Amino acid sequence: MPDIYYVNGRFTEPEGAVISVEDRGFLFGDGVYEVLRAYGQHIFRIDEHFKRLSQGLEAINIFYEPVSELKSLILEALRRSGYDAALIYLQITRGIAKRAHVPQKGMQPTVVIMVCEAPALPAELFRNGAKAILYPDLRWAKCHIKTIQLLPNTIALTQAHAESAVEAIMHKNGIVTECGSSNVFIVKNKKVKTHPADEAILHGVSRKTVLEILRNQEVPVLEEEFTVEELLECDEVFITSTRVEVMPITKIDDKPVGNGNPGQITAMLMEEFRRLTVG
Ligand code: PDD
Repeated sequence: MPDIYYVNGRFTEPEGAVISVEDRGFLFGDGVYEVLRAYGQHIFRIDEHFKRLSQGLEAINIFYEPVSELKSLILEALRRSGYDAALIYLQITRGIAKRAHVPQKGMQPTVVIMVCEAPALPAELFRNGAKAILYPDLRWAKCHIKTIQLLPNTIALTQAHAESAVEAIMHKNGIVTECGSSNVFIVKNKKVKTHPADEAILHGVSRKTVLEILRNQEVPVLEEEFTVEELLECDEVFITSTRVEVMPITKIDDKPVGNGNPGQITAMLMEEFRRLTVG
């Protein structure tokens, strides 16, 4: 089954999936993206992803109409791939123009879609938990916009990988924000905490799903700031994203989290999240 590429109005072979060097995404990182996931050719929480996409486009004043056309396009791309378990990457930039910081009016946005098979992550990461590192959050003041400007994230994640960790847990002024490519939660005395959905973090679709599960299961949960000290003294840590769903973190730098094994609440969430993806 083939990976699928779509650029500005046409499906193409990978070699044909090219954009101009004058695209503002390339020159300025002037664009937004989404990563969606399909289970059995069904896209998980597609409306949530599109809501965030529309909010992101509006926040940076890119006018793309109608967004519903994009929905049809990604469904078409998914169908063409034939993959049951797929990751769908959708990127929209402001478009192509001679390089100038101030964009021209009325530009035609560039649309890129790529579909690949969702890789199966090593089972032991879920069974035994994964390692994360601590890393300063070097990003800008509007992290709720899913912009393609990911340099601080890639620097943090590259350092994590150099230290055999799956994620970089980022912190600013002593407060834990989120990870390089996922949200982070802590559990202490059976109470769950995660950073509030403000401008300091991306409002993850998986994060929201986990909050719903916790509330349904009547597990106490607070969307409240927490410190690096709280992180290092808690019983359970887990991360959430479209790629990893819910993954236990059992080591931070060289320190075990809690007793060093995935905790009960994390285990419940992994199971319940999976149940939603097959439903
Ligand atoms: N990243 N925080 C950041 C900084 C992210 O990049 C992501 C997702 C998340 C989780 O969001 P969601 O649950 O909606 O996937 C949180 C995607 C998967 C990526 O960049 O590949």
